[in-house]
Amino acid sequence: MSGNGVAVSLRGVEKSFGGTRILSGIDIDIAAGEVHAFVGENGAGKSSLGKIIGGYYSADAGEVTVFGRAVARFSPREALQAGIAMIHQELQLVPHLTVAENVFLGQESNRGGLLVPGDLQRFAAIEATCGFHLDPRARVADLRIAERQKVEIMRAVARDARVIIMDEPTSSLTEDEAERLHQLIARLKGGGVTVIYVSHFLDHILANCDRVTVMRDGRVVRTSPVAGETKQSLVDSMLGRAATIGWPALPPMPAPGVAPVAEWRGVATATGLRDVSLVLRPGEIVGLIGLVGSGRTEIARAMFGADAITAGTYLIDGVETRGLGVPQAVRAGIALVPEDRRRQGLVLTQTTRPNVSLATLGAVSRFGLLQPGREKARVRAMIEHFGIVPAKVDGAVALYSGGNQQKVLLSKWAAARPRVLILDEPSRGVDIGARRRIHEFIVEMAAAGTGVVLISSELEEVINLSHRGYLMSDGRIFAEADCRSLTVEAALHRIFQEQNRQSASQGATLP
Ligand SMILES: Nc1ncnc2c1ncn2[C@@H]1O[C@H](COP(=O)(O)OP(=O)(O)OP(=O)(O)O)[C@@H](O)[C@H]1O
Ligand SMILES: [Mg+2]
Repeated sequence: MSGNGVAVSLRGVEKSFGGTRILSGIDIDIAAGEVHAFVGENGAGKSSLGKIIGGYYSADAGEVTVFGRAVARFSPREALQAGIAMIHQELQLVPHLTVAENVFLGQESNRGGLLVPGDLQRFAAIEATCGFHLDPRARVADLRIAERQKVEIMRAVARDARVIIMDEPTSSLTEDEAERLHQLIARLKGGGVTVIYVSHFLDHILANCDRVTVMRDGRVVRTSPVAGETKQSLVDSMLGRAATIGWPALPPMPAPGVAPVAEWRGVATATGLRDVSLVLRPGEIVGLIGLVGSGRTEIARAMFGADAITAGTYLIDGVETRGLGVPQAVRAGIALVPEDRRRQGLVLTQTTRPNVSLATLGAVSRFGLLQPGREKARVRAMIEHFGIVPAKVDGAVALYSGGNQQKVLLSKWAAARPRVLILDEPSRGVDIGARRRIHEFIVEMAAAGTGVVLISSELEEVINLSHRGYLMSDGRIFAEADCRSLTVEAALHRIFQEQNRQSASQGATLP
């Protein structure tokens, strides 16, 4: 290990919840000033281990030492005093407070969320360090997920932490923003900060971390220098078997004459869409390709009837819809897997069973009566199909790992066989094994005749899994592309070109 000594040492750490052991015999030394990655499948225990180091959970057995000081059970506040800050996977912000108030939340100077004089200058300094562009006075409730993630990152930086645990910090960021975060991490490391980096993006880990700990089923498989690892070596040891990396083959495109299941002509919304025309045919996967804020989620919401259309026409099966709301959309067979699964997708107070069968009560009821036996069998089949962990029909979804919550959400729609399936960031926070299963799921749905609209900030994913793509910028579709011949570089190039064109034409109209 480096001469700087050990920042965090874990010896024989164990943790159980309700009789289920989720961490066993964890031995890791994290060197001061290193960037140390945790990788593993969904439910492997990465977040739980991070929370033990961050003082949110206490270990049942074993020893946790921070800079040589043993910590038995420390609160988040004590962890902070010891110089540890954590960026949570499921973001923990106070929605009604502003960006700056959230950044300084829980600090000595910050009383009850109110800013004190000097905070705005401090905010500007942190902003300069991070290179994010956030309005300190914006209310967090009004921010998109990517911006919230930046607030969490700024909060950790504001705390002058010596150890920062980042639990999937880039899951909502674009490649560009992730790159900026990685530069920030390099600067923090230069200043002696230790970073624990949890992520499913193995490329990011290989490029930005010093060492990596691979976890499987609550145990450490190995800790090793990143320089000696490859994507394949990491995946194989995460899964404990050789895995396929790549993309599943797409089903054939529907014949040109097949009538669209959904079509937009010149649609506008109050959420910023302008003159959007698109078609979606049964069995086709159509990608919305654009950067965060380009209008992708807005299209998803308006197609699902969650936002009203203020101009243009929306046809379903060739019939014009008027004032389409969510209930009518659902009745027409339109399904949306939203970007923000915790707030919009799942019933967190419920168990897996109703969450999966909610959309398909018809299929498991007879004469309007729910048949618990059939419902259970179906849910069990879905748990098996997606590899949901814990594999319990009556598991409490709120306590599931992030990736497993996403699988529950998807299985709900797999069971329902919708006509139109809109997937907004379906593989966010999902491990590489489950990601593959989700990709296969998308392909299976299309092969069975569902028209799929796919949104992903990972351009590689959306391009490789779509037949056709619509290139978006600033609430508009500016081009259509055949995804089978489109590259990520070409897509990015066209998007930036379009943005430059727009800002040039806006500049021209200024006095
Ligand atoms: N508070 C809790 N109560 C009960 N079970 C929990 C709790 N927190 C975590 N678990 C369980 O511990 C296991 C490990 O979860 P954890 O969130 O640490 O996984 P992870 O590796 O971070 O997964 P992901 O990649 O999906 O985020 C899971 O089976 C999860 O359901
Ligand atoms: Mg996690």
